[in-house]
Amino acid sequence: MLTCRICGASVREFVDFGRQPLSDAFRKPDDTSEEYFFRLAVGACESCAMVQLVEEVPRDRMFHADYPYHSSGSALMREHFGRTAQEFLETELSGDDPFIVEIGCNDGVMLSAVHEAGVRHLGVEPSAGVGEVARSKGVRVLTEFFEDSTARAVRDEHGPADVIFSANTICHIPYLESIFLGVDALLKPDGVFVFEDPYWGDIVERRSFDQIYDEHFYFFTATSVRAAARRYGFDLVDVRRLGVHGGEVRYSIARPEARVPTAAVAELLAEEEARGLVTRETLDGFAAGVAGIRDDLVALLKDLKDRGGRVVAYGATAKSATVTNYCGIGPDLVSKICDSTPAKQGRLAPGSHIPVVPSGEFAEPYPDYALLFAWNHAEEIIAKEPAFRDGGGRWILYVPEVHVVE
Ligand code: SAM
Ligand code: TMP
Repeated sequence: MLTCRICGASVREFVDFGRQPLSDAFRKPDDTSEEYFFRLAVGACESCAMVQLVEEVPRDRMFHADYPYHSSGSALMREHFGRTAQEFLETELSGDDPFIVEIGCNDGVMLSAVHEAGVRHLGVEPSAGVGEVARSKGVRVLTEFFEDSTARAVRDEHGPADVIFSANTICHIPYLESIFLGVDALLKPDGVFVFEDPYWGDIVERRSFDQIYDEHFYFFTATSVRAAARRYGFDLVDVRRLGVHGGEVRYSIARPEARVPTAAVAELLAEEEARGLVTRETLDGFAAGVAGIRDDLVALLKDLKDRGGRVVAYGATAKSATVTNYCGIGPDLVSKICDSTPAKQGRLAPGSHIPVVPSGEFAEPYPDYALLFAWNHAEEIIAKEPAFRDGGGRWILYVPEVHVVE
């Protein structure tokens, strides 16, 4: 029986993507070592409603010195995290000698603004390469995985935190009990633990199945986050929907005696109940929708190829590993993936082995069609490449359904 990583109750599996590689393991072309594969499938806990992967990948395989994702690669995300820092500086961090800890600070996209404001901070970031980039911006970084023992060591050295923040990281961490124990040890009695991650409600609505890959272990809802928080002695005191990364929610967690939940919490909980986000009908419908997207996408790419269309992809996202490997899309259907991240360029995408090239090569020459893997950055990318469209090129999107943008 599959059991819930949080509460131990039974988990019902509802979608299986088969054997998948590590989504960020871009390979050197001359690398002949065996690729690591695992079974990517998702289930929902029948007790606490937590949506979760059924198989866990060891963390050191995913987060290490060569972890290639750089948060600052997107102008939209730089703006988003600049605003986030500003908001903290004006509210939770406006008191006497405040202290903020960020779990998974990556290249310092958020903490660099906190550093510039002269506020005490610490990023806890296990991936040494991106952590070094943060350090070069003046951000203080501890190269460790955040967990109970790390949190205690941080408290002993720096004192308790007013804010513990985390973006696109808590959903990556199967060992949530250790995270909450650490938060309990490190957070001031009236402090707040704020984290934002892809929202299961948006994934269901957009059928964005490519949010499912090795690193995304949990798919949160307000309902499941509140149940987890309460299990570890906290409460969910605020929620905010965010438009970034295809739809996220920012959750604020605090000790029950310290803060009163806002009306937004009750509203989102009621909405989730009404939508039935984890009912059998919703979950099985999601799985059927995903299979339909796979069939339509493969049919479209084969048809374009048969008619002599040149198709490339844009954005070597972690998400794209699920799309290519689940759909069986290789270099025969998509000749290359254009991407602005130096650490991904000159490499082969995991599993599919589609070559990743610098985004400048998109125009050499422009293809007839471009499959937009980085659909969450669509506005920014499409605006950057006006000549592609003007010359008759067309973007292909696959969520919530496969379509060519006219
Ligand atoms: N916060 C950034 C953002 O929103 O763009 C980075 C998100 S990135 C998808 C996830 C980050 O979490 C990686 O930099 C990874 O190294 C880090 N990470 C994974 N497990 C962690 C843990 N236990 N403690 C701290 N950071 C962790
Ligand atoms: P993400 O969806 O996980 O944020 O990854 C986005 C990927 O797309 C990342 O590899 C960087 C790439 N990218 C570009 O190549 N050009 C761009 O303009 C943007 C915003 C992202």
